[in-house]
Amino acid sequence: MKRRHWLAVPATLAAGLLLVVFVRPADAGTTLGASAAESGRYFGAAIAAGRLSDSVYTGILDREFNSVTAENEMKWDATEPSQNSFNYSRGDQIANRALARGQKVRGHALLWHQQQPGWAQGMSGTALRNAAINHVTKVATYYRGKVFAWDVVNEAFADGGSGGRRDSNLQRTGNDWIEAAFRAARAADPTAKLCYNDYNTDGINAKSTGVYNMVRDFRSRGVPIDCVGFQSHLTNGPPSDYQANLQRFADLGVDVQITELDIAGSSQANGFASVVRACKAIARCTGITVWGIRDSDSWRTGENPLLFDNSGNKKAAYTSTLNALNGSGVPVSPGTSNPPASSNPPASSNPPASSPPPAGGSCTATISVNAWNGGFTASVRVTAGSGGLNGWRANVTLPSGSAVTNTWNATASGSTGTVVFTNVSYNGTVGAGQTTEFGFQGTGSAPSGTPTCS
Ligand code: G3I
Repeated sequence: MKRRHWLAVPATLAAGLLLVVFVRPADAGTTLGASAAESGRYFGAAIAAGRLSDSVYTGILDREFNSVTAENEMKWDATEPSQNSFNYSRGDQIANRALARGQKVRGHALLWHQQQPGWAQGMSGTALRNAAINHVTKVATYYRGKVFAWDVVNEAFADGGSGGRRDSNLQRTGNDWIEAAFRAARAADPTAKLCYNDYNTDGINAKSTGVYNMVRDFRSRGVPIDCVGFQSHLTNGPPSDYQANLQRFADLGVDVQITELDIAGSSQANGFASVVRACKAIARCTGITVWGIRDSDSWRTGENPLLFDNSGNKKAAYTSTLNALNGSGVPVSPGTSNPPASSNPPASSNPPASSPPPAGGSCTATISVNAWNGGFTASVRVTAGSGGLNGWRANVTLPSGSAVTNTWNATASGSTGTVVFTNVSYNGTVGAGQTTEFGFQGTGSAPSGTPTCS
């Protein structure tokens, strides 16, 4: 990464006066998004569908930001207002508008103890677990190819010194609910980065160490997690060990993202610059999102924690942020990003995507399952033989009493006994030795045998 300097260029006027002209380097960005992009990062904002008719708001949005997060519109209460009946209209308003303008879309949030629809708040145990996994599967499938990163699970750790999980209806379905959610998200959308997101984890403390231990455990067991979001709702600035904390997570092999940045207090401008510098110092810190555009758009009413004032004017914090984005740092290292799921070995013994094509038969299939008391999700990997595939079928035999309730990236024929899964339109063609994956959710015990493939 090139360091940038303001150049002092002396120019002699005819009158003999010496004038010092400050020239901005030709490649310094003049907007937040463009400046962040120069080091391979994004600079995003949380936006609200209800404000998209405000031209001051959209003017700033489209000038300054190259990524958006729906502030509320992709949450569980918004997307699944009644069970298994989905409404993507407000989420789509945000996502489609952004994609049409070349802005990336960060997905927020698949599972959270807050903003659950009323029907889910009243559920518990296996019924809630199944409903939650179904939600993850359906929403991640719907936004596949549109959302580049998902907050799969939001705010699952307790505040205070325990370093443990927060009590919630989701937590009471079993400690493995988070990994079940990540596995379901991966199966539904193998291309999106899957993040855990939380607040008060910005410095090294008991809560962030609890999250750190979970991520380390997930990485060691092959639970698919790609990134950790640090919300960074701050006062005055980040804690002194902010960068060190981000770095210890990056060292686990995940990306880190600043996901909901806002800063109240009199040192706000310096605080924003410190956050940007910390992110830019870390090759795996891939982007920053501020939680709103103007102070009047912020959830922190009266604290004025954003980069633009109520009228949409740039604040001192804007200038310090832009200067820090144009300042020194390291580029995002594409080589350190996680490979897509199709080549990410899961916990089971699936062969890597680069395995030689199986000899003879047209395809082989392997299965990995994530089971809990009363239900399971399964991910099946189909590997084409040396002739490649133009359409495929995989047969999975379920134990007696088990039934398939949901399928993604395949069509199921039957739901009990031996279920035949057939490719859908976009994954029937598989090159020699290449793989494709589909998944399903079921009730009862998980299948234990190896699927057949033809
Ligand atoms: O849209 C309704 C409106 O119809 C109704 O009249 C009004 C009455 O209260 O409520 C409106 O919905 C509110 C919604 O924001 C949209 O403004 C909800 O009550 C309110 O609870 C909701 O607050 C959101 C909050 O999450 C919910 O916990 C904030 O906008 C949103 O900024 C905030 O975002 C969270 C992140 O998702 C997770 N991290 C923390 C962050 C800040 O709390």
